[in-house]
Amino acid sequence: MPRRPPKIAGRPVVITGAASGIGRSLALRLSGLGSPVALADMDEARLSTVATSLCGPVLSRVLDVRDAAAQQRFANEVREWLPAPLVAVFNNAGVAVTSAVLHTVPEDDEWLFDINFWGVVHGTRAFLPILVHQNDGVIVNTSSVFGLLGMPHQSAYCASKFAIRGFTDALRQELRGTGVRAVTIHPGGITTNIARNARMRTDPEGLGRTKEQMAAQFEAATMTSPDRAAAIIHRGVERGKARILVGPDAYLFDALARITPTHYHAVVSRLRARRRESV
Ligand SMILES: NC(=O)c1ccc[n+]([C@@H]2O[C@H](COP(=O)([O-])OP(=O)(O)OC[C@H]3O[C@@H](n4cnc5c(N)ncnc54)[C@H](O)[C@@H]3O)[C@@H](O)[C@H]2O)c1
Repeated sequence: MPRRPPKIAGRPVVITGAASGIGRSLALRLSGLGSPVALADMDEARLSTVATSLCGPVLSRVLDVRDAAAQQRFANEVREWLPAPLVAVFNNAGVAVTSAVLHTVPEDDEWLFDINFWGVVHGTRAFLPILVHQNDGVIVNTSSVFGLLGMPHQSAYCASKFAIRGFTDALRQELRGTGVRAVTIHPGGITTNIARNARMRTDPEGLGRTKEQMAAQFEAATMTSPDRAAAIIHRGVERGKARILVGPDAYLFDALARITPTHYHAVVSRLRARRRESV
């Protein structure tokens, strides 16, 4: 008989990208519900603010997810620190690049791919042996709705998020019959710092907007707060979902990718234009 998915609240979790946005909200939520939390991020100041705001047990490490050896050292430290079996690893850290393919700056795309894809792979490889040894727990990898369909000026981001989806789907099949699960997260627009932390050299639509102006437009069009995203992700993992859509726009994107897999952009751009006019 298949096992019931584990309750994660109250049990130890690992979260990367925990200094901001969705990762920060996951840390606050799960720690508030009694989970010991092991947190990692590159942003030392913000990570420290999050860690010191928590009442429960916390291990926090400044870490670049691109560094496979650093992720392995972090996993070794977590193994020593664990007050109880590890229940979930949220490979959440991520960044964005806005650029037309024609004008790509290769180092920007490499920077993104190293963080978004290889960061998730390094985190999975570092922590999976702990979960497999326990025969229990869940790897939770953050893709995006841009891992369901392609969007203009987001080629590297889409590629990295499709890659996470493929990697995690393959892992899920390998883990069949074990007590370990692999889950993919597909958030729609969430009101976080992702656009402010993005790399953008010029406005790819030629409208002369600055990064700050584009970030403000992105934030105005988002439909879900990071706290709400964390609640949806937490509940989805506890319900045993393999794939978690976050926010109403994520359900719309998912439906479009199925119904009109080659023409969805016409619908998406009409909806975006309408939404821009109304904000
Ligand atoms: N915000 C959205 O609309 C949205 C939509 C879909 C998917 N996502 C994904 O959600 C995840 C979380 O992003 P967010 O929206 O909370 O953004 P955010 O910018 O608010 O938080 C991302 C965190 O990751 C950290 N980070 C970046 N590079 C790192 C590295 N090399 N090593 C360690 N930490 C690093 C940042 O310092 C930051 O604290 C990302 O994977 C992102 O792609 C976000």
